[in-house]
Amino acid sequence: MRPKIAAGNWKMNGTAAALTELHSLATGLPENPPQVVICPPSTLLFRATDATHGSPIQIGAQDCHTEGAGAYTGDISATMVADSGATHVILGHSERRDAHRETDADVQAKTCAAWAAGLTAIVCIGESEAERDADQTLDVIGAQLDGSLPDAVDAENTVIAYEPIWAIGTGKVPSIAQIEEVHDFMRARLTDRFGAEIGNALPLLYGGSVKAANAVEIFAVENVDGALVGGASLKAEDFAPIVAALAQS
Ligand code: 13P
Repeated sequence: MRPKIAAGNWKMNGTAAALTELHSLATGLPENPPQVVICPPSTLLFRATDATHGSPIQIGAQDCHTEGAGAYTGDISATMVADSGATHVILGHSERRDAHRETDADVQAKTCAAWAAGLTAIVCIGESEAERDADQTLDVIGAQLDGSLPDAVDAENTVIAYEPIWAIGTGKVPSIAQIEEVHDFMRARLTDRFGAEIGNALPLLYGGSVKAANAVEIFAVENVDGALVGGASLKAEDFAPIVAALAQS
């Protein structure tokens, strides 16, 4: 049985006032909640772990450096993320691959750094609209999986998030058949490389314009184990129904 995971990526949104959303979310969790991981901006990590103390909500960062410490102005290390009480870190989000030119090799090195600090890496991959139009989706996804994941992947240290770039923040969602095709492909690629036990145990999240209105049908897909949600994770009233849909899936 794979865990179900509802992860929220707040991106560059949220000041201290947003911590009340964590309280609301914690109070409104369903009976048997899935794993819930909120990834606020790094300025809120310590306060977010305080705010969720005693609740099942876990906290994650949105990036970390490959090194534990050093002369890297503006960066934060996995050690610092773990020091905040966070348990997860998003790595290789398309917004970082694009704006910060992160490569698969960078993501792989960051994943190793995250593990060394005891964090679970949420490794993101996804094709552009041009790549999908050119029928390259599975090639791109396969190459990103191969290049971004270190050999020591297991179901405790890694979560994979498929986020088609063209679906992020656009309101455009792939068809259920398209999501199913990519998730089945990822499952096969992972069992090929890591063996059936690890490959079948790795949680696979879908991300890109997930809302309460489409969550139920997305979570019904066999190899979708949860979601990585951007915009709809900012407000507890938007995220809670997604968490509830996952709990019931
Ligand atoms: P949206 O849910 O806003 O489309 O963002 C998805 C995302 O990028 C999560 O990491």
